[in-house]
Amino acid sequence: MTHGFDLDARLDARADDDLRRHLEVTETAGDRTRLADDPKGDAPEFGDESVVFAANDYLGLADDGRLQRAAELGARTVGTGAGASRLVTGDTAVHRALERDLADCKGTQRALVFSAGYAANVGTIDALSPDVVFSDELNHASIIDGCRLGADETVVYDHCDAADLRAKMERRAEDGATADERWLVVTDSVFSMDGDVAPLSALCDAAEEYGAWLMVDEAHATGLFGERGGGIVQREGLSDRVEIQMGTLSKALASQGGYVAGDEPLIEYLLNAARSFVFSTGLAPPAAASAREALRVARETDQSDRLWANVETLREGLEARGYEVLGETHILPVLVGDRVDALELDERLRDHAIVAPAIRPPTVPEGTSRIRVAPTATHTDEDLQRCLDAFETAGEEVGLL
Ligand SMILES: Cc1ncc(COP(=O)(O)O)c(C=O)c1O
Repeated sequence: MTHGFDLDARLDARADDDLRRHLEVTETAGDRTRLADDPKGDAPEFGDESVVFAANDYLGLADDGRLQRAAELGARTVGTGAGASRLVTGDTAVHRALERDLADCKGTQRALVFSAGYAANVGTIDALSPDVVFSDELNHASIIDGCRLGADETVVYDHCDAADLRAKMERRAEDGATADERWLVVTDSVFSMDGDVAPLSALCDAAEEYGAWLMVDEAHATGLFGERGGGIVQREGLSDRVEIQMGTLSKALASQGGYVAGDEPLIEYLLNAARSFVFSTGLAPPAAASAREALRVARETDQSDRLWANVETLREGLEARGYEVLGETHILPVLVGDRVDALELDERLRDHAIVAPAIRPPTVPEGTSRIRVAPTATHTDEDLQRCLDAFETAGEEVGLL
């Protein structure tokens, strides 16, 4: 008898299902990099330079000197790590300043930073302990995990479908929901694999009709949309109607960490009850300091103008070459269909020094495999042309065009 774990068998099963994944060393986090020649090797030998259209560093700030200096200053003046949970001795002026700026950016009374967006979602939903969560079917894994941990019941509604949400709330109410039940509606604002946007105003209407709270994950929108980079909630003027605005510091803000923004009681409650906040070391000061500087750059400069110009050039160029590009945002999912074709296109693009990942089932439905192209503000015209040329040649090689 053995009570141990046969992990080789589990890994083999994943491989059989086409779900085995591998780490791959990359030289830098910027929009040009060199990838390790042997992805599974320990000592990387890097190949030729590639242009990366795969990162979420949408404003191209990951190697920006202003952020680097802010991170360095944070490390020098406060420390490389917070040293303890925020509730012990890990609460510093750098954290407070970042939270003030986030609350200001989001138009809320207060904000609270977590060590990751993942921790913010899981910790918040778990702490609220809702009786029912109504969750968009394409919500991020960290929302799903928060529901698994904290919700008594999770009702999944059709993607971006406020009418289906309303119908499911109505059914739940008719099935005998008691007046003291606590309901939470939760959605991403920009969906990372589809590049589309949740109908937030209609979701607010539905939530308000049933007195439920609405939580919006702005991971892919913070720093990019709205007058102050506050996200889609701000762009749509819904700051007063969305109880919980959540997001990450790790995408357009090119740092690490997550946040929740909302009213004073929400934040005060979370810092008492969100276990991923209470029992986790405070965000590293360099990460907090660089995120704060990124927020300033995003709000006070025209960094995003270049991103939107690049998005337009790529979308038009891909469509002109016969590709169908989904969505309506800075994320450009190029529809391929068959999973094998998508993988082959990914590999051919790499041969042409373009890194843009194939997204396959189970991440997306069967028959809708795609290449996720994510331009950044720092891609040059030459980079974009190289990407379009690569799509043209690789698409012909794979037989898609
Ligand atoms: C929509 C969404 N929410 C939350 C997260 C988690 O954020 P983080 O990477 O900071 O843990 C991510 C990214 O991975 C995301 O795409």
